Amino acid sequence: MSTPLLEVEDLTTTFSTDNGDLTAVDGVDFVVDEGETVCIVGESGSGKTVATESITRIVKEPPGRVEGTVRFKGRDLMAMSDEELRQIRGNGIAHIFQNPQEAMNHCYTVGWQIAEALQIHQDVSDEAARARAVDLLDRVGIANASARFDDYPHEFSGGQKQRVMIAMALVGDPDLLIADEPTTALDVTVQAQILKLLDELQDEFDMGILFVTHDLGVVAQIADRIVVMYAGKVMERGGVLDIFEHPAHPYTQQLLNCVPEIGGNEGGIPGTLPSPHDPPDGCRFAPRCSYAEQACRTGGQPEECEVSPSQRVSCIHYRDGRDPSMLRENTPGAEQGSNEVSSADD
Ligand SMILES: Nc1ncnc2c1ncn2[C@@H]1O[C@H](COP(=O)(O)OP(=O)(O)OP(=O)(O)O)[C@@H](O)[C@H]1O
Ligand code: SF4
Ligand SMILES: [Mg+2]
Repeated sequence: MSTPLLEVEDLTTTFSTDNGDLTAVDGVDFVVDEGETVCIVGESGSGKTVATESITRIVKEPPGRVEGTVRFKGRDLMAMSDEELRQIRGNGIAHIFQNPQEAMNHCYTVGWQIAEALQIHQDVSDEAARARAVDLLDRVGIANASARFDDYPHEFSGGQKQRVMIAMALVGDPDLLIADEPTTALDVTVQAQILKLLDELQDEFDMGILFVTHDLGVVAQIADRIVVMYAGKVMERGGVLDIFEHPAHPYTQQLLNCVPEIGGNEGGIPGTLPSPHDPPDGCRFAPRCSYAEQACRTGGQPEECEVSPSQRVSCIHYRDGRDPSMLRENTPGAEQGSNEVSSADD
């Protein structure tokens, strides 16, 4: 088997705060293979951003402390010097953030900022950097790219700004793109266009994508595989069809119920996440889970059980000798047989 593009093992990120230590990401594992899209999904506060920002150590240390193993193309990122990590951040792993407003400098033209990013990583002339920046702007769908090079960020719409951020992320020809809620601030139509663009660029640039969102509806359009996080832990993982057609974890089922086209529960999941300062014993979802029993409330998060070769779940009902079928009764869309999901190939 070839080496995965990214391997994350037992990733744990703790923050020192005035109220004591807080573990935002608690022993998380996942893999991204070359050219695939893995989505991390979970409600606000689950630890998705901290997990992805811990990979390239852009989490501020201190107050943060990142532990565990992160290998990128087989190289141990945790053992790298700051200088080596800077190289990886420029050329190997690129980030796109939720809010392009904050990530762009309003005093410089958009083209200048892309060219500047390029020249930080590559020894190229001003003309060559400009040509490449125009080419990238064109590639991410900015019409009339050559003329738009000299425009300032405020002259671009929200969707166009996110396209510019994608262009900026591509300057180092990354092997892995980490996109943290890149479409959350956009309306649904523009969101769909950006997702389509990412899908096209993934093939063209031959990138793996680690995509973060709280919205399973977005995931359906882009994911190959899904990792469901809750309160710093992984609840379930599987292929996109596994998760949409037979979600195994009660939390995943509830998340799917909140997708308007599937469950129609627009009010969200009842209850709130536990405090990361004082997570519950046992399964972290127990205080909100209608299937919880006494055994769920002791020990740590249940070990993941295999549902199929491509799907694993952290829930005691899937342990050997138990029958999890009662959990399936409330699976969103169970009466219709399966949920409609448009795969990324559509
Ligand atoms: N610098 C920090 N200091 C202390 N706590 C932090 C820090 N950054 C994040 N946290 C806490 O870590 C937990 C996970 O936060 P994180 O931002 O990763 O959630 P998220 O899943 O990305 O949520 P969202 O969907 O809102 O972006 C939260 O409880 C948050 O308050
Ligand atoms: S382990 Fe228990 S509390 Fe956790 S999801 Fe399963 S049934 Fe619910
Ligand atoms: Mg976040």
